[in-house]
Amino acid sequence: MSMVPSSLSLRDRTLAPERYHQVTKVALVLLCAIVVTGAAVRLSGSGLGCDDWPNCNSERLVDVSTGHAAIEQVNRLFTGAVAAAVAIAVLGARLRTPRRADLEWLAYGLVAGVIAQILLGALLIKVELHPISVQGHFLLSMALVANAVVLVRRSGAADGVEPGIARLRRHRWVLAAVTGIALVTGTVVTGAGPHAGDEDVTRLDFAIPTVARIHSLTVLSAVAVALALALRLRASPVLGSSATARALSSWVVVALLQGMIGYVQYFADVPPLLVGGHVLGATILWGITVWLVMDDRSTPAL
Ligand code: HEM
Repeated sequence: MSMVPSSLSLRDRTLAPERYHQVTKVALVLLCAIVVTGAAVRLSGSGLGCDDWPNCNSERLVDVSTGHAAIEQVNRLFTGAVAAAVAIAVLGARLRTPRRADLEWLAYGLVAGVIAQILLGALLIKVELHPISVQGHFLLSMALVANAVVLVRRSGAADGVEPGIARLRRHRWVLAAVTGIALVTGTVVTGAGPHAGDEDVTRLDFAIPTVARIHSLTVLSAVAVALALALRLRASPVLGSSATARALSSWVVVALLQGMIGYVQYFADVPPLLVGGHVLGATILWGITVWLVMDDRSTPAL
């Protein structure tokens, strides 16, 4: 029988860098998935399926007596999975050998983001899903996805290699900024449209055709910036690695699909399933955008 107390054996435990890299990937996938399950709550009108937090309502902690309450609670359970993945990312960063301060800070960033999301989730109920709070919820998720993409990339880079400065850095940042604006304008269209999370909540007082036009113009601007970046890379391949070129091609493909879904859903009165696909596409596109902004000269090790 072992005489070593369990606390000591945990302290002695270490995590290989490759394993930690896998842990960060799981956190990233769950953080992307919860954006879509959160959208499912909104699109099925289940946003106020539970009118309290953390209890479902004033009488019960768990209440599955209505479909809306059940959907809302599945999403809350999923929040638990995300919280666990993020806690494991922090624990893993502390057990990783060698330890790296950058990875620990990035993992703490995820914890801070999840806590902020939980608090904002409570606020959303208090303000009865006011569109601005729903927008904030989505955009904070995008910040979390960005944080997780950086963590995945940094944890996959060799230890002791300082990240260099990516070539065409300014152009990549412009792409991120314009893509970010496209996400924000998208949330404004949602805030003015029918998909609020509940039938009776306030909407943003904008004409939908006007905000949808502004949204598609910002999307077209992002596509133009991406195509210009692709042309520069093509003219001078030393400005980016083949991984950059592949990421940029994926960006263009996802953006085109996303644009197609956008137009179809607009003319088809925003069917919930398509809008769910649009939210997923926006999340993936944002992840690729952050990947593109990051340096691609640090040696990929894993
Ligand atoms: C790269 C392309 C695109 C991106 C990244 C994007 C992103 C977004 C985002 C983030 C939202 C908000 C989702 C939410 O808050 O749940 C949204 C909503 C929306 N987008 Fe796009 N979009 C793109 C292209 C388009 C295009 C070309 C159109 C055509 C007009 C369009 C039409 C809409 C509409 C109608 C909504 C509101 C859907 C609803 O009622 O919830 N999108 N978009």
